[in-house]
Order: sequence, then structure tokens, then C-alpha cells
Amino acid sequence: MNTPPSIPAPVTPPWWDDLSTAVLVTDADLCLLSLNSAAEVLLGLSRERILGHGLGQWLKLDRNLSSRLRSTLSLDQPLTLRARQLEPMRADSFLADVIITPLHGESGRPGQLLFELNAIDRHERISREEQLQKQQAITRAVTRGLAHEIKNPLGGLRGAAQLLASELDDSGLKEYTQIIIREADRLRSLVDRMLGPNNLPRREAVNLHEVLEHVRGLVSVQLPLGLKVRGDYDPSIPDVHADRDMLVQAILNLVQNAVHALEGGGEIILSSRILRQYTVSGHRHRLVAKLSVRDNGPGIPEEIRERIFFPLVTGRAAGTGLGLPIAQSLIQLHDGLIECRSRPGATSFDILLPIQPSNAREGMH
Ligand SMILES: Nc1ncnc2c1ncn2[C@@H]1O[C@H](COP(=O)(O)OP(=O)(O)OP(=O)(O)O)[C@@H](O)[C@H]1O
Ligand SMILES: [Mg+2]
Repeated sequence: MNTPPSIPAPVTPPWWDDLSTAVLVTDADLCLLSLNSAAEVLLGLSRERILGHGLGQWLKLDRNLSSRLRSTLSLDQPLTLRARQLEPMRADSFLADVIITPLHGESGRPGQLLFELNAIDRHERISREEQLQKQQAITRAVTRGLAHEIKNPLGGLRGAAQLLASELDDSGLKEYTQIIIREADRLRSLVDRMLGPNNLPRREAVNLHEVLEHVRGLVSVQLPLGLKVRGDYDPSIPDVHADRDMLVQAILNLVQNAVHALEGGGEIILSSRILRQYTVSGHRHRLVAKLSVRDNGPGIPEEIRERIFFPLVTGRAAGTGLGLPIAQSLIQLHDGLIECRSRPGATSFDILLPIQPSNAREGMH
């Protein structure tokens, strides 16, 4: 049970949870009195569980910082920490500008501290995303133009080979025309796959856990011994309004890559989490589902790491380099995005899928 805070928590304004800056208030003993949604996301916490608990239980505070915080209060002077690395216990560490302001109670003496956390690397993430999307839009335009130029003459080539085949009696020569037709078909299907999905999503209420479990079932049938796929789901995620087949395809492409990377030994974890007030592709969403495919394989080869979402970039002899760009296009059709983090021993692909409020209601029973 939480111990009730000794000083009443400040009354928060109605737009408190609409702020993109993470804001929290503590009492003089650094016990949390209130925090907004953006702070919940940054620290990976839910407010029900932590109000009334010491800030140090959720965020690593060294002794120096703790004493500076206390003197902020005793001297009644704001404190600004620039580009400070913060390490929450339940979320990824991040770089932030932190402004701490003493708040005055009715007595006129400062009794509480207001923290504003402005995560700098989140801004970097957003501008990196924008950059990536611009590059992908260019690649798509070039691919589309090129595909058109290839497909037209290819159709002619194939038709001519068919005509020729019908004129030939020699089966040995017919063999050659068959090769032309087969290779033309192969090229056409490659070009079609490079163009990516050409249908709009057929949306319905989709249970993400059912989708993840379905993919787990698909890959589990042919898993080599020594390779495990585990699920770690947040059961509270509502249904999303999405094209189920497209989601299955996107997740399957990620899981298949992880299976290849592990070469028969290791662990893949499929997980789901909910993010609140989260920005995806320049739009802030109230709720975003984060579906992750993590593996403990060797990581993405350094030389292709920056380019893996572009078509035909592959690190495998048998790869075509289309799995990731296709997955990315499928998720982008849902206004979402796939992000990747990779180092040897830990590779993670995160699908960020916005959940619209009306859809969230649709998904509830
Ligand atoms: N989990 C992972 N661990 C290590 N490397 C990865 C991982 N996922 C992707 N990669 C690298 O990214 C490359 C591109 O992946 P992508 O799925 O686009 O193409 P592919 O797997 O090579 O071919 P395919 O078209 O059959 O999917 C892979 O070849 C691999 O080198
Ligand atoms: Mg692949």
C-alpha cells in the first residue's frame, strides 16, 4: 500500500496530461505527489503504483544530486540541469534538460518541488524518424519509376518468348524460351514485391495478442532445436482497428529475420506494451501499442545498419533484402512506424502502432 503523502498533492489542471513535457511534483522528502502522462511514459511507470513513494525508488539519484535537490528547497532557488543522463529503473535511460522549481504552499514556504523533464534524445529520435521517412519517400518514388520502366518491356519480352515457343518444334530450343519466361516472371514478382503492398488496409478490430501468438505458432512449427520464442504481453492493450493479415506479415518478417540471425540457437521475445502521449511520425497519439521482436543474436552488421529499411539491402547470402522495407510499408499504412535498435547480443525491432480512441472503444467488450 502507498503511504499517504503528508502534504496534499497539488491540484493539477485539466491539460496536465496533454503536456508533451514530462512534469512531476514531489514533497520535501522527494516523495512523488503527482506526475503527468508524459512523465509516466518517460519513467515507464503508472501513477497508481508510485504516488507517495520516494523518487529514488524509480529513478537512479546519486548522492550529489539528492543533496542539490534538497538545497534547492532550502535555498528556495530553481535548479537547471542541462543534458543530464537519467536512468529510470523501469525504462530506457535518456538524456534530458531538467528544471526544478520550489513550489510555495499556503505557509509561503517552499514545501514541494516541481520537476520539468525535457527529453533531448526524444527530439533527436523524432528528427531521425523524419529524416528516415524523407529518404524512404525518395526511394519509393525511384522504385516506382524504375518498376514501371522494367515491367513494360518485360511484358513484351515474355509475350515474344511465348510466341516464339509456339512456332518452335525443337524441344531443346523450347527449353530456352521457357527460361526466358521463367526469368521474366521471377523479375516481375521481384519488382512487384519491391513496390510493396498495393492495397489499402482492410481494417477490422484486431486483438494484437492473438496476432502475436499466431505468428509465434507459425514460426514454432519449424524452429531449430535450441531456439525459443517467448511471449511477454501487456493484457490491458485494447483491440486496434487494423488489417490483420498485414500485421501478421509485418511481424512475421521481423521474426523470420531474428530466426535467421540466431542460426539455430538463442531466444526471441515477442512483447507488447502501451505508450501514452507518444509521438509517431510527427503526430502525437494518446495511445500507441508497442510490439517488439527482440533477439539475443549477433546484431545487425555495422555496415548495413543505417540502410536496412531500404529495398535490396541484405546481409544474408540467400536474402533479397525486402522483408524489412515491406514490413515498414505495411506498418506505415497504419500510420505507424518500425524502429530498430541493435548491438551484439541485443537486437530489437519495435512496431509503434497508434490506437485511435474510437477504435479503442470498439475493441472493448
Ligand atoms: N534480428 C536481426 N539480427 C541481425 N540482423 C538482422 C536482423 N534483422 C535484419 N537483419 C539484417 O537486415 C538485413 C535485411 O533484412 P530484410 O528482412 O530486409 O532482408 P533479408 O532478410 O536479407 O531478405 P528477405 O527479403 O528474405 O527478408 C538482413 O539480411 C540482416 O542482415
Ligand atoms: Mg528478412
